Formats: sequence, structure tokens, C-alpha cells
Amino acid sequence: MMKRTLLSLLLFFSICTVNAQQVSNDSEKVKWFTDARFGMFIHWGLYSAAEGIWKGERLRNGNNYAEWIRYRNRISEEEYVQLAKRFDWDKINPEQWVLQAKKAGMKYILITAKHHDGIAIWNSKVSDNNLSKLSGTNRDVLKELAAACKKHGMKLGFYYSHWLDWEHPDGWDHNQEITGRVTDEQYNKYWQGKVLPQLRELLTNYGDIAMIWFDMWVDYKTTIVKKEQLDQVIKLIHELQPACLINSRLGFPASYPGISFETMGDNQLGAAYTDHPWETSGTIANSWGYNALENEYKSTSQLLQSLIGNVSLNGGFTLNIGPRANGDVPYEDKTRLDDMGAWLSKNGESIYGCTGLQLRPDQHDWGRITTKKLDGKQMVYLQVYNWPLDKVLRLTGILSKPEKAELITDAGKVALNFTQSGPYTHIQLPDAAGDHFVSVIALQYAQPLALDEKTVAESTFGGLALTGDNLSEKTSAYKKKAFDGVRPSHLIINNDGLLTWQVYVPAAGAYNADISYHNNSKTATPVKITAGDQNLSASLKPTGKVVVEPHDSYTDEFVNDRVGTFNFPKEGFYKITLKADSKEQAELWLNRIWINNK
Ligand code: GLC
Repeated sequence: MMKRTLLSLLLFFSICTVNAQQVSNDSEKVKWFTDARFGMFIHWGLYSAAEGIWKGERLRNGNNYAEWIRYRNRISEEEYVQLAKRFDWDKINPEQWVLQAKKAGMKYILITAKHHDGIAIWNSKVSDNNLSKLSGTNRDVLKELAAACKKHGMKLGFYYSHWLDWEHPDGWDHNQEITGRVTDEQYNKYWQGKVLPQLRELLTNYGDIAMIWFDMWVDYKTTIVKKEQLDQVIKLIHELQPACLINSRLGFPASYPGISFETMGDNQLGAAYTDHPWETSGTIANSWGYNALENEYKSTSQLLQSLIGNVSLNGGFTLNIGPRANGDVPYEDKTRLDDMGAWLSKNGESIYGCTGLQLRPDQHDWGRITTKKLDGKQMVYLQVYNWPLDKVLRLTGILSKPEKAELITDAGKVALNFTQSGPYTHIQLPDAAGDHFVSVIALQYAQPLALDEKTVAESTFGGLALTGDNLSEKTSAYKKKAFDGVRPSHLIINNDGLLTWQVYVPAAGAYNADISYHNNSKTATPVKITAGDQNLSASLKPTGKVVVEPHDSYTDEFVNDRVGTFNFPKEGFYKITLKADSKEQAELWLNRIWINNK
């Protein structure tokens, strides 16, 4: 009874103080992070020594997350702590990790101070279950890492598993959904006795801490953690290190006072431009902790595209390495980091301090766009994943004319010729790409930039694909279906209605209009496509099936029909509409209208 009252008092005070202290200067505080864009995650702990294998058996989960081995493979505490003996302390040198991060062009390091296994990797006074004591070395890897970060000008953050703790008798693991072992009161003992004191150690003994990165990916209301407990954490951090950032996986949305940035799901890249600060934590293979059985590594291009794609949507990328229990960074990780670092040392101006343009996120089939203000100019960086064979890069969506266009090459910047017409910029390219991973073309503009986010973007080689993704007037009348592996993305048109696109015609002349569709009804469906006062009509027949693989895999056939030819009297913007007269229960599945003058 006494205990309960004390607990409620404690919680009550913490709510009051957090609310009183809502931090208003968050955007200033988080600026270094939104400028940095690229950081290193390090998963390193007792689990690293298991290497994803326990007594000859692989990890009992297809996601390969080797840092989960104690829980997944039901390992006892006594046996698990024996892993400390496998560490090769003569070889372990955290400065190597810092040098590797620098070489990779990363601006911060985030290390797993305590993962879900509950074993601190520093010399914690709060619990003897820590790597320094278990290994008998008394070495404090975090002290060494903090010193190396300071020496090399690298920001340092700590991952701290607050919700899950498999070592503490009152901590939480998923299985308690079945066993219900720990009560709220016991859990609070863990919170007050381990979480808060350990965070205090981390925020007191290691100099400036750039961020504490928490890891609860479910809504706190669905599990044992209480809002008041999370508020206590925010309060403690603000008290000890007001500049320290806190990620949303603490258990609150990004908008909650005290949360500095949103962390997406593991390896979940951005899909839309988002105003508030955010990042994705990503792996090079699948596991975070070292896993000897990994063999599916992402390519350097893929990783660079993850970084670039996020930056183009105002986000960042925290890329993980899982060093071994001798400190070594696996070769596959190292080579990718080195390649990314080489790319960034050449093309870094298109990443650091950059964000994205407010255009449709992936409207160009050649790559992505990043941007920043620089010396009174607006820089726009075209991130070219695929070097066009016809040597023309087609950019849509910027109405301003660039002052100059330059390709970044190993030998420096090379000026490129370009033409501007309406929302189209056509850049003449040399034969050789600027880079073997991603080539960057830097466009310089006077400010402010005039954008056109409505007009349909040109495809590589020219031509316009009018789809459910680039309508100029949004419609909720028709359901959108994404590409499902065999059927293309499409709009299901199941009632009468009008779809509208805005296009730009660069020169007067004849342009064909083709329609790619599946007609899911028994009878033909009449359609009308208009451009200004010109009308084209067609009757679209039922389409049936197509064989995907013999002998039993069929799917819905999409066909491509010429509807007719428009004669545009002059260059300029035009509105194109599609009107379908769908009968009751009839469905026309629209993949695209293709407008082309070839
Ligand atoms: C998770 C996992 C974990 C990993 C982390 C990184 O949610 O539980 O093992 O540390 O995400 O994003």
C-alpha cells in the first residue's frame, strides 16, 4: 500500500515537470542531425560472440536478427554469460570503428549500450551483468569509444533497450504475453532500479551524448510500459543533457514534446516527403548483430539509393555494422562502407545539409532529386541511377531556368549544356556517366525556385505515362492497386467518372495516345480521351487472361491499344481527361495512357 502511494506520487511529479518543460527550441537542437543525414549504427554486445549459432543450431527466426539469440533459442542466463569468454580483448579497439565511420562519410555513431539481452557493454555500477565485469577485463568500451569520437570529431549516441530486458528479473520479454510473469509494480522496480540509473550513467560519464536511441516499436498502451515512465526518461535526459536528441521509438509519436525525430521501421525507407525530422535504421545484410550465416548482402548502389531516397524525402539513414567479438568489421560491411565513403567524398555536397523538392517522390525513372540553399543560390542535385542511352536527362517540375548545370566527375565538375521549356529541363550528357554507382548533376538556380508539382514527368527517351499516381486532380472515386508481382499498378474504374492530368507539350505536332488496360467485364467499355477541344474515342474489349508460367499460373491480361492521335497546335500546357462509361458491375483497370510523338 505504502509502495503504491509512493509510486503514484513519483509518477505525478514527473508528469508535471515534463509538461512544464516542453522544449521549444527543438528544430535548432536537431539541426546537426538533419544536416548529417548519414550515421553509423553499431550492434555489438554479448550476442556478437554467439554469431547467430547456438549449440550447432541456427537462430530460431527467419529474420536472422542474431542479437535476439538468447531469447529466440531459449538460452539460460548461466550459459549466455559464458559468451563473454569468447571476446578477444587484445584486438578490440573502438577507435577503428570511428575511423571506419569517418571513412564512410558518416557523421555520427550510435552504439548498442544495452540491447534487449540486458547486458550493458560498459562498466555499469547499476548491474554486474555487464561486459566489463563478465569478461573480467574491467574495460569500458564506451569510455574508449567516447574518447575516440572526441578525438576524431564524431558525434556519439547510445542505443538503449528500455522496454525489453531479458536479464533483469523484473524486465520484460515478449513471452510474458503468455506467462504474465511480471506485474506493473515489479516492472516499475526494473524501471526505477535499472533503466533510469543506467541512463544517468550514460548521460554523466561519457561527455556530450548526441542522442539516446530507444527501441520500442509497439504502442506503449499495448504493453507494460506506462506513459509516466517514458516521461521520466525524457525529463532525465533534458535535465542531464538538454542537447541530447531522443527518437520516437521511445514509444511516442514524433509530435510528442521531447521527441526529436521519428525512427521508421527497420529498413523501412521513406515513401513521402515528411516535414518533421526522421531517419531509417538499416542493415547491410539482414541481421544487426554479427551473424556468421548471413549471405544476402545489399549492394553499394542499393545502400546509396536508400540514403539518397531518404534525403530526397527530408530523411536520414543510419546504417548498421555488426562487428565480431574481436572488434573486426566484417569484410562485406567494410567494402560497402568504403565505397559509400568514396562516393560521398566526391558527391557529398548533394547529401549533407540537403533535403528534397516538393515534387512527386519518384516521378523520374532515372533517379531522385536532392536540394539545398548554398551561398544565396538554390542547388538542385539530380541523382542519376541510370545513365540515359540517348544522352538526354529529362527533368520535369522546375519552371525556373538553371544558371548552370555541372556533372560531378572524378576529375571535378564538368559544365553541361541544357535547354529549358516550360517545366522541362533537358540536359545534354557526355557518353561516360559521372560515377559508377550514382552520378550527380548539380544545377544552380537563383532563388526562389519555381516548382510545378502537377505536370506529368517525362520518361527516359521521352513520352508521358499518365497513371493513377500522377493525376492533377486527386480522385477517391477509384481504388488504386499497386504492382503485385504480375499485374501492373492500376486504377479500378467501376463507375462513370473523369480522370484529369496536366501535361506539357514541348512542340506543336502529332502525338499518339495509347491506353494500357484490363477490361474485367463481359462487354466492351467505351472511353473518351480529350485534350483541350480534341476528342478521341475507343471501345475497349474484354481482355481475359495471360499465362505467367506453364501450366497453372495465369493472370489478368493488360493490353495496349492505340486510341488515336492528337494534333497539338502549339507548345504549352494541356489538360488531358479520360472518361470511362463503366456499366454497372463492369470494371476497367487502367494501367496508363501513353502520350508520345514518336
Ligand atoms: C529492432 C530489433 C533490434 C534492432 C533494432 C534496430 O526493433 O529488436 O534487434 O536493434 O530494431 O532498428
